Amino acid sequence: MTSRRRIDSAALRASPAFRLIDRRRCIRLTSLVFARVAVGFLDLLLAAALYLLFLRLQSVSPIKHSRWTPHTILATVALTGALVVIRALLDVLSTWLASRQIQGLYNELLLRLIHGYSKMRWERFVERNRSELLSHATHVAREAADFYHRWVELIASTIVVIIMAAALFYQSPIAASALCASVILFYILHRSAISARLQRAAFLREQSMRDLQKDIADVLSAGREIRAYRNHAFFFRRISQHSGRLSECNLRIVILPQIVRILADQGVTLLFLCIVAAVELKHGDTRQLLSLLVFYFALSRRLLPLISQIFFILGQMEGSYENVLTVDSELQDCLRNEIPVSLPHLPSGDFALELRLVTYSFDPNAPILQHVSLHLRVGQTMVLRGVSGSGKTSLLNIIAGVSQPTSGTVYVDRARIAYVPQEILLLDDTIRNNLLFGLPAKSDAEIRKALTAARLEDFVALQPLGLETEVGDNGILFSGGERQRLGVARAILRGADLLLLDEATSALDEENERQLLENVRVSGVATILVTHRLHKLPIAQREFLLQGGRLIEHHPTRSVGNDNGVVELEEDFESKLGCDHDAQYLSSSAALGEIIRTGCTPS
Ligand SMILES: Nc1ncnc2c1ncn2[C@@H]1O[C@H](COP(=O)(O)OP(=O)(O)OP(=O)(O)O)[C@@H](O)[C@H]1O
Ligand SMILES: [Mg+2]
Repeated sequence: MTSRRRIDSAALRASPAFRLIDRRRCIRLTSLVFARVAVGFLDLLLAAALYLLFLRLQSVSPIKHSRWTPHTILATVALTGALVVIRALLDVLSTWLASRQIQGLYNELLLRLIHGYSKMRWERFVERNRSELLSHATHVAREAADFYHRWVELIASTIVVIIMAAALFYQSPIAASALCASVILFYILHRSAISARLQRAAFLREQSMRDLQKDIADVLSAGREIRAYRNHAFFFRRISQHSGRLSECNLRIVILPQIVRILADQGVTLLFLCIVAAVELKHGDTRQLLSLLVFYFALSRRLLPLISQIFFILGQMEGSYENVLTVDSELQDCLRNEIPVSLPHLPSGDFALELRLVTYSFDPNAPILQHVSLHLRVGQTMVLRGVSGSGKTSLLNIIAGVSQPTSGTVYVDRARIAYVPQEILLLDDTIRNNLLFGLPAKSDAEIRKALTAARLEDFVALQPLGLETEVGDNGILFSGGERQRLGVARAILRGADLLLLDEATSALDEENERQLLENVRVSGVATILVTHRLHKLPIAQREFLLQGGRLIEHHPTRSVGNDNGVVELEEDFESKLGCDHDAQYLSSSAALGEIIRTGCTPS
């Protein structure tokens, strides 16, 4: 535990770039650096081999007293040829390995983000914008992974440049010094004139990208409202503003490193000319000049582009580092807001659900639920009512384990719950896959049974493709009632012990709703039904009202007692409410209806 904490704190201190990758990935990236350096080293050998060959072709011996025979020439040619092949193979192999590593890293970051978001506390998750999360998991994670590719290339290029500069120094200290001086000059220029501008552009680009994605997501999901209100122009203006800002940032991010590259290219060409002049002045031997030029040319073929590449990569890294910071802060946020692990609390005896003094709040000063207690027997059904915003959905979220109570305990078998939320989410897939929703395959007979119970069998039978019919983006091809019934069928197919229906039949006509709920009742599954409907529902064995954060059981007549297996609540809610006339008022169905209609208790 102590060592874990020590590792954690050490990891926290480390830079975000190192925090994102584990030790294994770090070793792999380092070996890629070696592979890329080896390619550069082979270039150097190649330059040396060509130099020797050209010396021989000019009949100048590079080493005193050595004798060049036709065999040694052939051997040098063969060796140079082999070097060319090995270099090409290593180049291809290391490029392939690097791309594979970066693709793997992207997949890892993507999965870590998705895992983090799906394990995030509900309250934090709903604060976040979905399109922003989507962008983080796709574009931002991709750019963050690319940062490491650039990092490998940068380190490898720098090492190769140092090796080549050393070789150059061996050949001509003046040329090497000129090279070093120009690189340092260039670096200072880059840091002072380009680096800060690039960082700022990268930051603004991420911001504009987020805004643009939010706008696009809004336009696409509010398609119906936009058509109805005919306000395309407003959304169009918003999008064009953000996309304009994004293109400006993109332009800067593309152009600034290019300026650096162009300057570096021309600078090093001038430098190359200086080297030739220096060699000429120093050696004064025109016979050697050609072979030396070959050496420098072979070197410069790699050296010059490498120097400009280093500055280009540096510029790109300034941009992609912003994405590394974003992914890192997202993962930290996920960790900080992870759903706490809690031991499962199973209900006792023949109860399907027990709530003991559950309190829940977004704002500690205004709790949504206060000391709510409830016992629900296996197979029992209850209706939960309450004015809009009274906390019905919050209560179901807590029971289903979507949210965690601020205090109190929920005793329920979470593996045996089926939940139909207020807004059904349908996958852009077939009816079958929407019903299964990740379940291992179920037989057609089981699926048909669930469809029948949800009063959707006839509708599916009328579809030319039956269960294979596509439902469209979030079920847009289906009516509101059909979408809801699909959601209910999905829940029934789970064969759960406790069914939570949050206004899951609000879009159905009265007859269909009555029949569907009767089917649920007959199935013997304990059910909590949230509804605003006032008509008498056949399945309601118990009725509750959520008001002021308290759960109040409604007894049609006080003498009914426990006829339907009703268990009296542990708390005396009437006295807890501290409002006797409210409790008396609740004892009449008509009054209950009045509260629901008006949202307040009459004085
Ligand atoms: N993420 C959130 N942050 C802060 N407050 C929230 C959040 N989600 C819901 N609330 C508030 O909690 C209260 C209860 O919301 P809830 O959705 O549980 O009400 P409800 O009874 O289901 O309402 P309705 O009948 O309209 O569906 C509301 O006042 C709502 O504004
Ligand atoms: Mg609700």
